[in-house]
Amino acid sequence: FLVATLITEGKAKQLYTTENEEVVRVHYLNQATALNGKRKESVAEKGLVNNEIDSLIFNYLNESGIKTHFIEKISASDQLVYKMQMVPLEVVIRNFASGSFQKKFQVAYLKPFDRPVHEYYLKSDALDDPFINESQIQALALATPADLAVISRLAEQVNMALRQLFAKIDIDLVDFKLEFGKTPDGEIRVADEISPDSCRLVDQETHQSLDKDVFRHRSGDVMSGYRTVLDRLLAVLN
Ligand code: C5P
Repeated sequence: FLVATLITEGKAKQLYTTENEEVVRVHYLNQATALNGKRKESVAEKGLVNNEIDSLIFNYLNESGIKTHFIEKISASDQLVYKMQMVPLEVVIRNFASGSFQKKFQVAYLKPFDRPVHEYYLKSDALDDPFINESQIQALALATPADLAVISRLAEQVNMALRQLFAKIDIDLVDFKLEFGKTPDGEIRVADEISPDSCRLVDQETHQSLDKDVFRHRSGDVMSGYRTVLDRLLAVLN
């Protein structure tokens, strides 16, 4: 038995080694951040709830035949995933206008898009995750055109699967962020996290935000929306 070593710490998670060098343990923290980490607060129960929501979603994606890093949830706040060589991009998919898109183009909140919008951002705390286009990604050799095609197709598949899943529980998937990694044999898979921290989720009837916008806008009890998402997912999954 080897003692687990901290590999890296993100804004809301820690990654630890396991006995299997191909497998990493993800530990979810009770921490919420906004403004790219410049505002940071402790939020009780957030780690447990996000670990559970993320595990349900990744299980569902695995069962839908979409390749992901996820192996299994092993405790209230921990899960096992395959170790991935991460692609340094954040891929944002939008079904309705909100957030930075709404602000940038001054369109109505929740204006629906005929086709989902795909955006890429460079993962860089120092540069504040700048927007990057496909030719800039090639110029910086961040991903090959073939890799980018796989990433874009996987992102579309995740969007279709999750829109369907959330529609069953009366929630619109407004937008979300994905990250991707490569296995040692070069297969690209969905990695990182999918939770109300990384998705905008809006109740179809009331248009109430059930995601991190509540924390960003200090508009109420952030965990109440997260728990609603979890309770509704549990009612249709497992
Ligand atoms: O802020 P913006 O509108 O560009 O965010 C789009 C989506 O990506 C939102 O669901 C947001 O939660 C997610 N996102 C994220 N991590 C970032 C930036 C955006 O999870 N660093």
